Amino acid sequence: MAVSVLFVCLGNICRSPTAHGVFEHLVNQSDLRDNIRVDSAGTGAWHAGEPPDRRARAAATARGYQLDHIVARQLNRSDFSNFDYVLAMDHENMANIKSLCPVNYQGRIGLFLEFAASTTFDEVPDPYYGGENGFNEVLDMVEDAASGLLDCIRNNND
Ligand code: 4NP
Repeated sequence: MAVSVLFVCLGNICRSPTAHGVFEHLVNQSDLRDNIRVDSAGTGAWHAGEPPDRRARAAATARGYQLDHIVARQLNRSDFSNFDYVLAMDHENMANIKSLCPVNYQGRIGLFLEFAASTTFDEVPDPYYGGENGFNEVLDMVEDAASGLLDCIRNNND
């Protein structure tokens, strides 16, 4: 089995690198570590080439996750043939992703929080202009959905 997952937000410096680092951590601790490839991208290019936001890195580090290897990049059309799951953090990301995506790959696109078990929201709120606690809320939602996503991939490939 080889499965690939791409997490997408607006800037690729807060939410999607957090999802990238958390899901990668979960995968690396599982028996599927050699079978799942993880990446992230932003619909916008403003922060391309930058590391994740300092606040996102601090919040992640406090929970034992590592985001330092992640470099922001913009989503591009080749991502749709390269990734099985293209998961948006919010509805606006999803609309932008869909408008870039060729018709034959539209089925690969979804909202990341659809995989969450206990989170009642369907969007990961943008923490960029908020306070430090926004990054912990992002982590809570991301951990929940990351766990559900790994279960889903496992069930689909049993
Ligand atoms: P992200 O957060 O989409 O979770 O990476 C944002 C990062 C930067 C901006 C907006 C959201 N920005 O406007 O620069």
